[in-house]
Amino acid sequence: MKIVTIIGARPQIIKAAALSRAIHNHYADRIQEVIVHTGQHYDDNMSQIFFDELQIPRPDYNLHVGSASHGVQTARMTEGIEALLIKEQPDFIVLYGDTNSTLAGAVAAAKIHVPIVHIEAGLRSFNKAMPEEINRIVCDHCSTLLFSPTHAGIENLKREGFPVEESGPSTLRQAQGSGTAKPTIDNPKVYHCGDIMYDNSLHFANIAEEKTDVIQRLELVAKPYILATIHRDTNTDYPERLSAIFRSIIKLSEECQVVLPLHPRTAKLLKTNLEEALQKQIFSCPNIKLIPPVSFLEMIALERHAQLVMTDSGGVQKEAYFFKKPGIILRPETEWVEIVETGNAILADADESRIMEAWQHFKDNPPTVFPEIFGDGHAAEFMLEQMLLTNANN
Ligand code: UD1
Ligand code: UDP
Repeated sequence: MKIVTIIGARPQIIKAAALSRAIHNHYADRIQEVIVHTGQHYDDNMSQIFFDELQIPRPDYNLHVGSASHGVQTARMTEGIEALLIKEQPDFIVLYGDTNSTLAGAVAAAKIHVPIVHIEAGLRSFNKAMPEEINRIVCDHCSTLLFSPTHAGIENLKREGFPVEESGPSTLRQAQGSGTAKPTIDNPKVYHCGDIMYDNSLHFANIAEEKTDVIQRLELVAKPYILATIHRDTNTDYPERLSAIFRSIIKLSEECQVVLPLHPRTAKLLKTNLEEALQKQIFSCPNIKLIPPVSFLEMIALERHAQLVMTDSGGVQKEAYFFKKPGIILRPETEWVEIVETGNAILADADESRIMEAWQHFKDNPPTVFPEIFGDGHAAEFMLEQMLLTNANN
């Protein structure tokens, strides 16, 4: 079986590590993976670093699309991916998540009838102002095999007319739809499979402890700190929202250190969207550590040792949960509803008083129970087995 995997943005490169590792360890004789990097992310610390650190095979192709408006970026990727699919003739294209690289892969593949495997299917924010919501809906509706990490994802797909049975909550490893017939774009199959990022966090947690010195380097040993990340356009591109978040970071820094690995988007927009006085305060505050993006191993070491994680990232809010840390989500809603429902994360949006209330709440009531929601750490193997099965039946 031959698959073409599309990656482009940082979280997709990291997710791809889990699938490539499973292929290398268990299926090398049966599965050939061709990796296509769209080039959506290109700085060394947003791309190359992960290939080196997580032993991901070098991409077979790089489209080098770089940054541009949504339309231009997606169009360039679509053109490049279409040409490669025609050349490579894979059995499946594998798409991760909800970025423009995902959307481009979905549009290119669906039109030339390459079956799509969507990893992280079914997630919804119910906010179509988010570019990611458009991308994930289009990708799901073009897919043949939909792998949802959570039960909530399965429920969302059911609401949108996917062939999911009515009876009770879905269980891990459950497959639904397409009956005995071969799954197709019009007769897709939906799986509840667990989270591929949970596979990675389990696999790399101890390796991160051994191989990184980020905690020592940042002088955080035995010191409480908040780990924060901000990169959503809805936060970075609106001066009022970005200022509210940074004002709350300044307040938090009076009680505790705040470590903030800055996404390049945020690093750029800080300088234009925050008033100079606020910038000066942030850059001169000894308790705020603004640092360049870190490697994945460094990031999970920082997550594991943090007192609390504050973020608008999809991946980071979940990883906080994996490592049993309370989370403050800097968004009005989340696709990862379970972590809020269990009381382990609070939606505070970009609202200074809600952020401070959430901080106080978690200081008074540190969460202790983190139910297993994200599978068993073997989502990648399950997905590959299902692809092989489907391919054998074709
Ligand atoms: C993208 C995804 C988002 C995901 C995020 C992960 C879309 C629509 N958005 O957002 O869903 O959560 O990646 O990090 O696909 N830049 C650099 N160097 C880089 C990459 C980006 O300087 O290597 C800067 C550029 O100024 C660029 C900006 O960051 O314009 C935004 O990059 P882009 O890939 O368009 O979107 P992200 O905000 O990274
Ligand atoms: N991450 C990283 N270094 C950083 C910030 C994040 O390795 O400096 C990792 C993080 O651990 C997670 C992924 O990047 O696995 C999340 O990516 P991001 O926040 O960019 O995007 P999202 O998940 O919101 O799409």
